[in-house]
Amino acid sequence: MKKFETILLNEASEIHSEKVLHSEGSTSWISPSNIAIVKYWGKRPGQIPANASLSLTLSKAHTETSVSFSYDRAIKEPRLEFKFEGKPQEQFEKRIKKYILEIREFLPWLNHTKLSIDSSNNFPHSSGIASSASAMSALALTLCDIEEKMYGRKTSHDFMKKASFLARLGSGSASRSVYGNMAEWGMTACRKESSDEYAIPVTGIHDDLLMLRDSILIIEAGKKKVSSSFGHDLMKSNPYAKLRFEAAEENMQRLCSVITGGDIGQFIDIMENEALSLHAMMMTSSPGFILMKPNSLKAIELIREYRRESGASLGFTLDAGANVHVIYTMKSESKVEKFIDSELKPLCENGLVIHDEMGSGPERGVKYDV
Ligand code: DP6
Repeated sequence: MKKFETILLNEASEIHSEKVLHSEGSTSWISPSNIAIVKYWGKRPGQIPANASLSLTLSKAHTETSVSFSYDRAIKEPRLEFKFEGKPQEQFEKRIKKYILEIREFLPWLNHTKLSIDSSNNFPHSSGIASSASAMSALALTLCDIEEKMYGRKTSHDFMKKASFLARLGSGSASRSVYGNMAEWGMTACRKESSDEYAIPVTGIHDDLLMLRDSILIIEAGKKKVSSSFGHDLMKSNPYAKLRFEAAEENMQRLCSVITGGDIGQFIDIMENEALSLHAMMMTSSPGFILMKPNSLKAIELIREYRRESGASLGFTLDAGANVHVIYTMKSESKVEKFIDSELKPLCENGLVIHDEMGSGPERGVKYDV
């Protein structure tokens, strides 16, 4: 069994034998989305990543989740009411129910608790921005809060580490959203404190790489064509998987020194290689997927051309979809934004570009009262 998991299971049985001090209350967390620079694509059973990944935490795109709880020892199964943006949402509710059942060994009080969850995103669901990272991290944070309040005690571990562990079980990329600036999840030779069980904050970031901008070109609004879980699964039979996992580790190691050294050119080089490798994996899976659209390719060409001509520090990355994230430094912001407006915006559906930037991580929401 994994190390932190064992510690949390021991803590769970200890807490469960304690008296509940507050049987009712509510809490709320706002948690951001993140964009991976080194991609997580492929996993082993138990939500263990096939390679380490590293992401930028966004500032604006977030999920706010409010949870009211009511504990009653007579209840023997978790009870759940879920609303998304004020309305019932069957598909999300099913996923959350499954998640709650899966994590109750770590939070045994869930078996005796009724939860009313209300979750909303401040970005359009159809924009293609990954919502599982912000949603599952916000939920994990509220659950950690509820436990502390219920039993009137602090977790014996780092609150964020436990939240990251629980968020990971909901969605791998969510483990990274609990930390600001940059976060890293998965064992990598370049960070001895790294773990497959939870993410860690990236420290020692060079000033030039702080406050990076992320303008998301919405090339295609609407749902992703491949669910992440299906995509991860396809890596099991992808003939290039082994090489990909090795290349990701090499990129992590290169990135470690680039992050402290601040070489933006190298940073962009690694980021773009990772984005194209992710899509190469999707194309070479069986069935194979082409998720980029002609306008995604046009945007990539224009970004590279503009970089060559202007010398500005900008590059692109992609998620498992057609949208293009333009990443650039604060210093080049004014000229890059002009370029985006004139050259890239016309490639977007309804001209939609979402301007975001590196953010400081989750915060308690307004409905916090525990
Ligand atoms: C392409 O975290 O959504 O965004 O663990 O199955 O929920 P699950 O997958 P998910 O996968 C994210 C894939 C990615 C790359 C990344 O964020 O690292």
